[in-house]
Amino acid sequence: MRVGFLQFSPKRGRKRENLRQVRDWLVQAECDLVVLPELFNTGYLFESRGELWALAEEVPMGETTQALLELAAERDVAIAAGIAERCEDRLFNSAVLVTARGDVFLYRKLHLFGAEKRIFSPGDQEPGVFEIMGAKLGMMICFDWYFPETARLLMLQGAEIICHPANLVLPYCQEAMRTRCLENRVFAITANRIGAESVGARTMEFTGNSQVVDPLGKVLARASSDRSAVMTVEIDPKLSLDKQLTSTNDIISDRRVELYGRLLSE
Ligand code: ACM
Repeated sequence: MRVGFLQFSPKRGRKRENLRQVRDWLVQAECDLVVLPELFNTGYLFESRGELWALAEEVPMGETTQALLELAAERDVAIAAGIAERCEDRLFNSAVLVTARGDVFLYRKLHLFGAEKRIFSPGDQEPGVFEIMGAKLGMMICFDWYFPETARLLMLQGAEIICHPANLVLPYCQEAMRTRCLENRVFAITANRIGAESVGARTMEFTGNSQVVDPLGKVLARASSDRSAVMTVEIDPKLSLDKQLTSTNDIISDRRVELYGRLLSE
């Protein structure tokens, strides 16, 4: 299976332009699965909830999900992409996974970062696992990386590949994701954005370095910190099914769940 990411600098509020950029870049990507950054169509910083409300869309009927479905069918590729979702009176920082067959899977970011808390509602559902081309995929978004429970929940449901749309600003994630992969023995595709965004007095700079990591924590592909890129690599998702670390260690059955109760208390 050939998988990869698109790293670029979305323009704030210019959804059509951002979609056009993605369409242009994807012509260069011969692959089965491509991951786009978090909030790839709207940009990341908003003056107010009202500004984002006008840009956010329902899933699956919103124009971005529909355009991604069209693109997936045209290019015969599955696309995981971060978008702003409107659902009744709430806004979610979400990711959709669309396939060439017309499936639409949804994930809502659980762990909101910084000012996101003033605008979005946190995800209200356990992250799920979805199957494409015989491979099991899970999604998490950006700051979810800081909470190892997110990747763990996906692995325990059988995820082989974690799709990770991101708008990273802290410098640690790319290296930390190697540990997330190692401790869960899964692949992860982090699609980060580049560039900077400003609203009023606030400016945020994004760190690029999008990457594909294998179940042993090896970086199979990594983009630069400041240039747009499409990168793809060939992987065998089934390598992630081997949870046997040594002849006497299985990373699932060796867990001491009877002693982990505290993990589930407030
Ligand atoms: C982030 O979660 N976008 C840092």
